[in-house]
Amino acid sequence: MCGIVGALAQRNVNEILLEGLRRLEYRGYDSAGVCLVDGDSQLQLRKSQGKVADLEARLAAAPAAGQLGIAHTRWATHGAPSDRNAHPHVSGQIALVHNGIIENHQPLRAELRDKGYQFTSDTDTEVVVHLIHSLAGDGRDLLAAVTAATDRLEGAYALGVISADEPETLVCARSGSPLVVGVGIEENFIASDPMALRQVTDRFIFLEEGDVAEISRAGITVRDKQGEEVSRPVHKLDGGHDAADKGRYRHYMQKEIFEQPAVVEATLAGRIGDKSVLSEALGARAHEILPEVQQVQIVACGTSYHAGLVARYWLEDWAGIPCSVEVASEIRYRKTAVRPGTLFVTISQSGETADTLAALRQAKELGYLASMTICNVPNSSLVRESELSLMTEAGPEIGVASTKAFTTQLVALQLFCIALAKVNGLSTEREAELVKALHQLPQLMEQFTGLDQLVQDTSEAFAEKHHALFLGRGVEYPIALEGALKLKEISYIHAEAYPAGELKHGPLALVDADMPVVVVAPNDELLEKLKSNLQEVRARGGQLFVFASPQAGFTSEPGVTVVEVPDAPESLAPILYTVPLQLLSYHVALLKGTDVDQPRNLAKSVTVE
Ligand code: G6P
Repeated sequence: MCGIVGALAQRNVNEILLEGLRRLEYRGYDSAGVCLVDGDSQLQLRKSQGKVADLEARLAAAPAAGQLGIAHTRWATHGAPSDRNAHPHVSGQIALVHNGIIENHQPLRAELRDKGYQFTSDTDTEVVVHLIHSLAGDGRDLLAAVTAATDRLEGAYALGVISADEPETLVCARSGSPLVVGVGIEENFIASDPMALRQVTDRFIFLEEGDVAEISRAGITVRDKQGEEVSRPVHKLDGGHDAADKGRYRHYMQKEIFEQPAVVEATLAGRIGDKSVLSEALGARAHEILPEVQQVQIVACGTSYHAGLVARYWLEDWAGIPCSVEVASEIRYRKTAVRPGTLFVTISQSGETADTLAALRQAKELGYLASMTICNVPNSSLVRESELSLMTEAGPEIGVASTKAFTTQLVALQLFCIALAKVNGLSTEREAELVKALHQLPQLMEQFTGLDQLVQDTSEAFAEKHHALFLGRGVEYPIALEGALKLKEISYIHAEAYPAGELKHGPLALVDADMPVVVVAPNDELLEKLKSNLQEVRARGGQLFVFASPQAGFTSEPGVTVVEVPDAPESLAPILYTVPLQLLSYHVALLKGTDVDQPRNLAKSVTVE
């Protein structure tokens, strides 16, 4: 999704901007651009459809330098990917980059056309730069013009704005889309994600909704939505992992799959004792809130939504607490009936997904008991705006297709479910059993990643297929959904998942020798039921690929390929069986030659609605 970088320094900032864009590439984008104010106070604009490397080629052909600049990676919403729709957009001496969507762009466009402005792109963004220009005129008080313009904007925005007439000033504003100010020494920066600036600073100001900031080399002035000057804290982010490094792996996705034993361990660290979940695991306020919880509403998008679907089985089984799970883009637009004592839980890798954030903000008006987020990014909007937060310790996830974020979400959710079950009568024996299993998880995860070669061999059967069906029962049904999502995201094979018991109510009509059917078949109480469902597939000539442990009693035969996985405790099966499905989609994508880390049309962090 779109990315913003901006810089004001006493050195040429071109390379800082480009490095920032490279660090944001993983988010998914289709064009890139940069605009610098050069030594003659002229705007130097370079834009290119395609990758940051294409922009670099353009800069090599027509070099530009300056101590003030803004840069952008665009993920098309209004107007196709193209050079002219790429940001920055310019009006006179003013240049602007924008993340988000301006919902009232049409009336504003008409108004500005009447004033004589000519539009050269199809974007909603160009409206904003002309609006600022109309309020400022070339070169007159950029800050006042940006502030006045934000009063006219409806929708979501993070803006970075410069003027060739004010080469000592960078102005930025946010509402509904994330934006941070990176604090340096005699130089300052802006970005839509701190990761873009980690090479130049570790100190950040997280702008709040409605903030407008004026940045010079020496200082940063922030005004809130009422126009009052406010002091926002500077956060020092620790070194963390440098996600920009693929190490010995060919793709980030591959690296992230293999990191799972370590990040799962990091997510458990300090949160479980020998036989119990430590009460501090969910934060200081958990002991007040958890005993009051009578119901849980989980809200998320994409892969995080699938994690929520798994948690529902655990919550209802272990804690006896009713749980609903819904995608954020749906719940935020319907009338919901909220029962007293309902905890509102969001799950998100990025903590910035626009629909999830909007659903949380709306929930605050609806009488929920409290809000909690399970999130991977400290200081993200969801973390800052939720009352409780439980961090996953996955480290930065770069591959668009989520892998380690998902399994660490499941680990965090399991801790949450056990903690809630404890205040709802879970026996100490059962808790000890669940915690004992969690202690084994990192090592089992290692064994499951060891299935790589076996899964690679199996993947060949999928390379020429156009469709695939994933089946699971019970808590494995969401894992089948996640397996299908991974395959479609990165290999572009149409894949869908069904609870195996629903097979005969429709999808069986699709089954023939061309339809591989992937089955998640741990040795649980539903195994015999699942086996009957698989007979229905075999009887129609369907090709089965069964992921099962030896104890489940499957054998490979013509039409049935059994991918034998290690035996594992039932409570861990959803977490562990995810791994071979991730590997399957990875290897199929390799065979198909797709862009594994940045699949077409998709974005890592969806900060627009
Ligand atoms: C995008 C990503 C998915 C992710 C979803 C939700 O679609 O490509 O990988 O699951 O957003 O993102 P979140 O950051 O809220 O987990």
